[in-house]
Amino acid sequence: MIRSRTQVGIVGAGPAGLLLGQLLHLQGIDSVILERSEREHVIERVRAGVLEQGTVDLMHEIGAGDRLAREGLRHDGLYLGFRGERHHIDMAALAGGRAITVYGQNEVVRDLIELRNTAGRPLCFGAADVSIHDVDGARPLIRYRLDGQDHELACDFIAGCDGFHGVCRPAIPSSVLRIYERVYPFAWLGILAQAAPSCDELVYSLHDNGFALFSMRSPAITRLYLQCAPGEDLAAWSDNRIWAELLTRFTCADGWTPNTGTILQKGITQMRSFVAEPMQYGRLYLAGDAAHIVPPTGAKGLNLAAADVWRLSAALTSFYRKGTDDELRSYSERGLRRTWRAQRFSWWMTNTLHRPDTDNPFDRRRQDAELDYLVRSRAAMTSLSENYVGTPFD
Ligand code: APR
Ligand code: PHB
Repeated sequence: MIRSRTQVGIVGAGPAGLLLGQLLHLQGIDSVILERSEREHVIERVRAGVLEQGTVDLMHEIGAGDRLAREGLRHDGLYLGFRGERHHIDMAALAGGRAITVYGQNEVVRDLIELRNTAGRPLCFGAADVSIHDVDGARPLIRYRLDGQDHELACDFIAGCDGFHGVCRPAIPSSVLRIYERVYPFAWLGILAQAAPSCDELVYSLHDNGFALFSMRSPAITRLYLQCAPGEDLAAWSDNRIWAELLTRFTCADGWTPNTGTILQKGITQMRSFVAEPMQYGRLYLAGDAAHIVPPTGAKGLNLAAADVWRLSAALTSFYRKGTDDELRSYSERGLRRTWRAQRFSWWMTNTLHRPDTDNPFDRRRQDAELDYLVRSRAAMTSLSENYVGTPFD
């Protein structure tokens, strides 16, 4: 058994764990990041890619903004398409100049791993059998295996940044943990295509066949999604069928259509809203997907993770610098307030833009009326915009 110690043991090297590690490093606080997967897997996973203004600002503040500034695609607005028409919403004008930036989550992760290496702080990929112990005591432990050796890491605090399927949330006793959940009757089939984006804004579209989303990753790569059934078999979707369905759903009177091209990657994303309360138990603090999941329609997942670790690092900094623990004690309550706001928005975007199989003619008319109101009322567009570009981190 190899024994070591650190101030903050971080489980998971997704955006939450890596951002937290860098924020703590900048404050001179030690951490060890333990990641189950191998480096290549973590970097190459294709995920969402919309950064709120606050997340972009945070990336710059921590020294991870160079490539983001060069390659990130800033969007001041978006299109909503329904009943065969596209409507532009000028988000930045409605939300005090704030905007979103499209930059793949895997690129964020790649930049953060590089920063970690530059900082020279420990980041272990391929850590097996990670388990956490004594989180309700003064000195919690993380045990794991690395390169065939057993390790035990003593920590002041453990940050559970290990995503939805991790080991940290289950360490909170079931008598304490409350789960709030909604599973949606649809999923997204997502593709990356070798095709220049044919529009410089995202297009969220509702058609009688269901939702479709046009996004991008670079001047040469388009990212597209279409609503499908939750248990959909990817094998049933040939490239031709995917393009035919996308082109049908994006049909609009102004003649706009996405460019087609070779499909480089395809996958299915399930849709779920999930909140675990509280976000803290003893010396264990949950952040990101370990604590909450949102359906991807509002593009909030990564941004919620960024806000969590920003608050957590500030609370830990106050603890180590000033010896005060009031920010640590209110971490969960403040986080849940922000999480629920994003949950409400993501749920609303999802319901407004998808067709469940069970809808009836009344539901369809009501949904059309909602979208019609949305693109005609400055108040409704402002509400969409301020939520989409992101509310303050705390
Ligand atoms: N031990 C060590 N690492 C683990 C374990 C474990 N037992 N279980 C999971 N992990 C790792 C995963 O391999 C993953 O790399 O924790 C990491 C969690 O990363 P994410 O799932 O990316 O979660 P998070 O960092 O909270 O980022 C949230 O990611 O899933 C998207 O849409 C989501 O954008 C959001 C963002
Ligand atoms: C993406 O580009 O992957 C993306 C964009 C907007 C969303 C979800 C995903 O709401």
